Formats: sequence, structure tokens, C-alpha cells
Amino acid sequence: MASKARPTGRVRQSDHESFLRHQGFRWLKIALAISFVALLIYAFNDVQPRPNGGSVYGYTMGTIGVLLILWLTMLGIRKRAITPGRWSLKSWTSAHVYLGLSLIVIGTLHTGFQFGWNVHTLAYVLMMLVIGSGIFGVVAYANVPQALSANRGETTQLQMLDNLRMIDRQLHDAAQPLPHDQADIVRMSLNDDPFGGGLIARLTGRYPKCGTRRALQAVREHPSRQAGYGNDSLDLVEVLLERKRSALQRIRKHLRLKSILEIWLQIHVPLTFALIAALIVHIVAVFYYW
Ligand code: HEM
Repeated sequence: MASKARPTGRVRQSDHESFLRHQGFRWLKIALAISFVALLIYAFNDVQPRPNGGSVYGYTMGTIGVLLILWLTMLGIRKRAITPGRWSLKSWTSAHVYLGLSLIVIGTLHTGFQFGWNVHTLAYVLMMLVIGSGIFGVVAYANVPQALSANRGETTQLQMLDNLRMIDRQLHDAAQPLPHDQADIVRMSLNDDPFGGGLIARLTGRYPKCGTRRALQAVREHPSRQAGYGNDSLDLVEVLLERKRSALQRIRKHLRLKSILEIWLQIHVPLTFALIAALIVHIVAVFYYW
């Protein structure tokens, strides 16, 4: 079955379930078998000192590891070519995840547990970081789409933004009869960029300088409120600001979840290239000092 080029969150999620369980966990079994054999040979290899990267066993594990890493990297190319059948994208992704995890065993046994402040250990650390980010990606694919649809309910992102614009128009109208100082409070919200604050704000969902929050606080602390005078116009502004605050909360949560889905690949891929660069240096250094 051909895979979709850019699936929606819902399709993504079913893809996720199936690529992990694909063909009765075939790639999990293969990865476990490879790891088990590698561990078994290491355990029964009674050469002294214990095999490290420079032993026959170490070279074998190193070669398998490098080939595996190069193959795992090719998922980026494979993802962009749609072909059906046995080597469908689902099979590739399933193999990618489980064989990628088996690198923890292959890579660690290759090192012979010899670590230091050098390019060899750097390559190892980068490999573990790529694997770690991969695990994060799988967990994100498992949880984020559900959280996204739970937060959105039946509405789309476009409808959420439309709703926000409508509240802004109502706020604008409600500010017309207000005296200057109170209209300034409304402007605090209207002139604020509700999604400004950069990547950190987007990922954490925290917008400490949020104009709407500040405006709401200013309305509640306004002297006319403190004195207990009735003020219908300001009451209406407060209701609208509260409505805007909760609409913003929902959209920001939506953007945060979407960013989490996107951002991990922005980490996984550059780390992969850093890993390949470190691997090249590692291999050249090994043969240079041979
Ligand atoms: C050293 C090992 C690894 C390397 C070099 C590697 C490299 C890559 C590359 C190049 C991509 C393609 C990204 C793109 O162009 O969109 C990718 C995607 C991915 N990787 Fe890895 N990866 C490794 C290990 C892992 C592990 C251990 C896991 C999970 C436990 C994992 C999970 C994923 C997932 C879920 C995707 C996205 C698939 C999709 O978008 O359909 N990776 N990886």
C-alpha cells in the first residue's frame, strides 16, 4: 500500500501504531536477534584483553554500525520517494526504528567500553543523541496527535484564528465609548502580537508579556472597579478579554503541540549529519594511526 506524502495527524497516528507493530513486530525480532548474537559473541570471546574497537570483533561491529548508520540516514531520501510493496515506507520506518535501537548494543560493544575526551567518543555520543531524539520522535508521534485533536475539538486551526479575529473586532467596538485611559487598556490587547515571543514561547506555551493578560489585569485593577462603581462598558471589555484569553490559550496549546511534532526532526536530522562528520574523522583517525 502506497504511503501518503504528508499525512494528517489522524493518519499519522495510525501509521505510528502500524509501523511499530508492522508485520508482527518483524523488525523488532530481527533487531533483538542481531543484538543478542552480538552480545553472545562478546560474552564468549575469551581473548585478553577484552575486545575493543581495534580487535577483529571491534572492526566487525564498527563496520556493521557504520553501514547501518548510512542505511538509516537514507530514510530521508526514501521518505520522499513513494513506492509500494514489501519495502513500503512503513517497512522502512519500522526497520529504521528497531535497527536504529540495535545500534545501542552494536555501537557500545564496538567501543569495548573505552571512552575518553576524543573524537571516537564524540561519534559515540552523537550516535546516542540521534537515537535519543529518535525515541523522542516515536513518543511524540504516539501522543501528540491525540492531544492535538482533544484540544481542537471539532474546530480547525483556521476556525480558531477566525474566532480570535471576531473577538478582536468586538473588543474594538466595545472600546469606542470608553474614556482614553480605559481604551488604552483595550489597545494593550489589540496591538499585541499574540504569538510573538519566539521559539521558546511557542514550545513552552508561556507568553509572559501577553498583552491580553496584562489588559485583563489592568481592567480588574482599574480605580473605578476598586471604588465599586458600576461600569457596563468596562464589564463588557472584561468579558471579551476573558474570552480572548481562553481562545488564545487553546491556539497556543495547538501551536505548541504542532511545534513538538516538527521540532524533533530539526534536531534528529542535523545531529545525523554531525554524527556522519564525526564518523568520517573517527575512521580517518583510526586508519591514520594504524
Ligand atoms: C544513528 C541512528 C539514526 C540515524 C542516523 C537516523 C537518521 C534519520 C534520518 C536521516 C531521518 C529522515 C528525516 C527526514 O529527512 O525527514 C530519520 C527519520 C526518523 N527517525 Fe531516525 N535515525 C536514527 C535512529 C533512530 C531511532 C533509534 C529512532 C527511534 C527509536 C528513529 C526514529 C525516526 C523516526 C520516527 C523518523 C521519522 C519517520 C517519518 O517521518 O516518517 N531514528 N532518521
